[in-house]
Amino acid sequence: MKQVFDLVIFGGTGDLSMRKLMPAMYYAFHQKKCIDGSRILVCCRKQSDFDSLKDQIKAALKSYTKTSEFSEERWQSFSQLLVPVLLDLIDIEKGWQAFADLFEGREELVRVFYLAVMPSIYGACCENLSQKDLITPSSRIVVEKPLGYDHETAEEINETMANFFQENQIYRIDHYLGKETVQNLLALRFSNFLFENIWDCKAIDHIQISIGEQVGLEGRAGFYDGAGAMRDMVQNHLLQLLCLVAMESPNKLQADDVRIEKIKVLKALKPMLDEHIDKNVVRGQYVSGSVNGEIVPGYLDELGDHESNTETFVAIRAFIENWRWAGVPFYLRTGKRLKHRSAEIIVQFKDVTHNVYPDINQKLKPNRLIIQLQPDEKIQLQLMAKDIGKEDNVLKPMTLNLDFSTQNSDFKTTAYQRLLMDAIDGNSTLFIHRDEVKAAWRWVDPIIEHWQETNNKPELYKAGTWGPAKADDLFKRKSQGWIDITEEQED
Ligand code: BG6
Repeated sequence: MKQVFDLVIFGGTGDLSMRKLMPAMYYAFHQKKCIDGSRILVCCRKQSDFDSLKDQIKAALKSYTKTSEFSEERWQSFSQLLVPVLLDLIDIEKGWQAFADLFEGREELVRVFYLAVMPSIYGACCENLSQKDLITPSSRIVVEKPLGYDHETAEEINETMANFFQENQIYRIDHYLGKETVQNLLALRFSNFLFENIWDCKAIDHIQISIGEQVGLEGRAGFYDGAGAMRDMVQNHLLQLLCLVAMESPNKLQADDVRIEKIKVLKALKPMLDEHIDKNVVRGQYVSGSVNGEIVPGYLDELGDHESNTETFVAIRAFIENWRWAGVPFYLRTGKRLKHRSAEIIVQFKDVTHNVYPDINQKLKPNRLIIQLQPDEKIQLQLMAKDIGKEDNVLKPMTLNLDFSTQNSDFKTTAYQRLLMDAIDGNSTLFIHRDEVKAAWRWVDPIIEHWQETNNKPELYKAGTWGPAKADDLFKRKSQGWIDITEEQED
């Protein structure tokens, strides 16, 4: 149900707002998803930003949307939605009364407060919203991952928000859940008879979930060096993908039902005891190398520091202790400055139980289901089939391909667009519940603590590779290893 809304972006001139939120709303507007009368209130602290806010947003849209998607006319119509606001988030004396006045007569409308700011000011922001009576029953608050630094700090943030908002008003974003193919994973699993019946340890050998990035620090050194890949990517994106792959079927595709199933998975993850960590987790840090033919600096040079043990790469072998997944390894991997930009989930099925082609010494490859999120959105099923035209029974691996990248649309739909519109519509299915955040940190914390206690140094890897060679040793069988889909497709 679409409704008139007020979307407030705190931190309106920041990177997230300009790079992700503005393009998302621009697309939503031009796809006619913003009902007339809706507004986007963009908050900033400096007078100079306030004066030039619309120009800054226009420039951002020009940079972060495709040329074919941007035009002066489209900008003019979209800009009618924008309301610049001058506001000091911490100091209630500075701008808050004028801000509150903007909502007069709009008390019944949906209000979404997007906190695109440091978690350390969430508290002040919520307090000021409350002081000015701006939190109505139809208000929601949206916050970004990673929530906190560990289990304890995440709980503190959650507690602060809970003082002002009900849990069902709090929308914790993990933008990976807004990606089309992630939703397609749910459709694939729960609307086809075919897969659910072979989705377990009897048929599946192992599962790989890998997010590779070519970018480095992208100007976020301060945040990244304090976080590292474990907190930035594993605690949220990778574990969320793992949950969607491994969870039982929810009764309905609704927030509460999905959350219950995801939490069960997180709680069933085999805890990493100190003695397991070195065998099951590899962390790395990049040194200078070449990405796409271009020499890039190492992590420490990018950071401008000589010393840092922060990991820019993590690979993990994890197990889920329940009947469905007993003994099935889940290999998780993510890193910066890797060989390709890619994100995929690969479900590798078991070998056939008996080879009926022994005479021709035919090597049968196991079936694989590949759910590719990036760079292209596809679902592929790799099967063995007869090589047509060849005599005898010569087989070869062939691929059934569902390619979503060629969809015919004037504007693309971004993950942030999907999630922002869901928050506006009050649909929290693709957001993260407080209990999920807690359960994810509980699994991740001991690993990070172990690294700190043992003063663990990351393995160095050259930029432009797939990370430290040690990550390959996580596989039990020599014949197995990380699958490079991009390279396979190029062959
Ligand atoms: C963010 C991380 O959540 O996800 C970044 O903080 C990372 O470090 C980004 O680069 C990756 O997202 P995407 O959608 O570009 O794969």
